Amino acid sequence: MAILVTGGAGYIGSHTVLALLGRGEDVVVLDNLSNSSKESLHRVEQLAGKAARFYQGDIQNGECLRNIFDENKISAVIHFAGLKAVGESTRKPLEYYQNNVSGTLVLLEEMRRAGVTRFIFSSSATVYGANSPVPYVETTPIGGTTSPYGTSKLMVEQILQDFAKAEPQFSIIALRYFNPVGAHESGMIGEDPNGIPNNLLPYIAQVAIGKLEKLGIFGGDYPTKDGTGERDYIHVMDLAEGHLMAMDHLKNVDGFKAYNLGAGVGHSVLAMVQAFEKASGVKIAYQILPRRDGDLPAFWADANLAREELGWEVRRGIEEMMRDTWNWQKNNPQGYRN
Ligand code: NAD
Ligand code: WQD
Repeated sequence: MAILVTGGAGYIGSHTVLALLGRGEDVVVLDNLSNSSKESLHRVEQLAGKAARFYQGDIQNGECLRNIFDENKISAVIHFAGLKAVGESTRKPLEYYQNNVSGTLVLLEEMRRAGVTRFIFSSSATVYGANSPVPYVETTPIGGTTSPYGTSKLMVEQILQDFAKAEPQFSIIALRYFNPVGAHESGMIGEDPNGIPNNLLPYIAQVAIGKLEKLGIFGGDYPTKDGTGERDYIHVMDLAEGHLMAMDHLKNVDGFKAYNLGAGVGHSVLAMVQAFEKASGVKIAYQILPRRDGDLPAFWADANLAREELGWEVRRGIEEMMRDTWNWQKNNPQGYRN
């Protein structure tokens, strides 16, 4: 039996594929390469000593999915495929709802047709919206999202809940990631954003190698310890391992269940800059800019449920996140385009 990983050539997907192969699973990847390249999977193959079976195609293409389910014995699906840039989603809402919501509907329909009933969905802390108290806990009602991206994740979670009620043979877990950062410790795979990065760590790393001049810090007047925004950063390998533990837990899930995957602590932007400088020995030039539209002051996870029910908790701290980000960035200044 194999596990189908949609979006498996992407940032989190490639690290999860490596972790799956590492524990002996057979893996099939479906990716349209809209935000990734096959090079990530070549490197995963070098690291794992074996390959995932790769299909280039779109989750919105039912025929392509049918073909995959016909040609492989799939026991479960981990669904990473989707568009993820918050700012872009406000400019291209239809593309985001099409890819993230309609694409997931097509995938679920084909899973049902094929009799594949175990499903893990990449959700996000963004589903807690702008008004939930911190730390975010799974019992807090979700909603109040502030971007089409966030709303697409919210909608899929709601669809999954309805679907799981109607199809009791399905076991579904939504994993709500906080802020994934870092890279595999080999420095061979990592995050490879297109153009100027939107997210903090890739931006800092590109300042460090001289590709970007200085970091703009969005807001120095938040009601936080040092005035900069606080987030719950989580090492991508901890996140990958969380998927393995969620896979193992699916057999205990009747219907739908959501888990936060975060460290349970917040770090400020300035603290992240300092930690990166310490790990890399490189000084990061920065200036404080006005707040970025839509940003929240501070949020982090209540990470207890995943610990209690999945047996999962983070094993890597800020030092490892910075060390591995730097290792990946300096070894691959052009990402996978080397
Ligand atoms: P990514 O862009 O690196 O990976 C997504 C992959 O999906 C890419 O390889 C892309 O080519 C592929 N893809 C996109 N649309 C597709 C489609 N229609 N059909 C087939 N393949 C398609 O992003 P990532 O950071 O690895 O994120 C993976 C998932 O986790 C996404 O669903 C994202 O929304 C979610 N997530 C990410 C973060 C984060 O900060 N990175 C946080 C929370 C949730
Ligand atoms: C982190 C902190 C910024 C860039 C986003 C999505 C979220 C999730 C993860 C998918 C904030 C500050 C950033 C920069 C800065 N993705 N910052 N200068 O916004 O917490 O979350 O990615 O689900 O849904 O919204 O992550 O890395 O962009 O920002 O000062 O150039 O760094 O203001 O405080 P964010 P981020």
